[in-house]
Amino acid sequence: MADQPTILVLNGTNLNMLGVRQPEIYGRETLGDIEAACRERGAELGLEVDFRQSNHEGELVGWIQEARGTADGIVINAGALSHTSIAILDALLAAELPVMEVHLSNIYKRDAFRHHSYVSKAARGVICGLGSLGYLFALDALKRQLAQDQA
Ligand code: DQA
Repeated sequence: MADQPTILVLNGTNLNMLGVRQPEIYGRETLGDIEAACRERGAELGLEVDFRQSNHEGELVGWIQEARGTADGIVINAGALSHTSIAILDALLAAELPVMEVHLSNIYKRDAFRHHSYVSKAARGVICGLGSLGYLFALDALKRQLAQDQA
């Protein structure tokens, strides 16, 4: 349906490796599995899901810039770029859209360098440690936030 809100679900560096990458931390689900689950949840919620992954910071920045005119909200797991990229933070701030940050792992139980995320400064909410369920909760939350923003 054309009038459904569109949510850009963005995945950053190394998330294309899910399923084979450190399964003890990230589980056995592939990014394709997560995409399918997001599409199913999106359909239930009446949200159009635009699901993407890139290992390139500039490509992610370009997609976030485009989202300003084309999407209604953003779910982002920027991978390691969460901890390093002021460029992604600036793009998210410029997008002026509701943003939910997701991490599959609990970044606060891990290395100290993972405890800080630049993305968080642009996010309404942060979900970590719940695996792929976090993406689905982020879609639920955005659906409610969009309704609240319109009220
Ligand atoms: C991650 C956590 C990051 O620290 C890491 O660099 C990733 C994945 C997560 O989903 O748990 O690539 O964002």
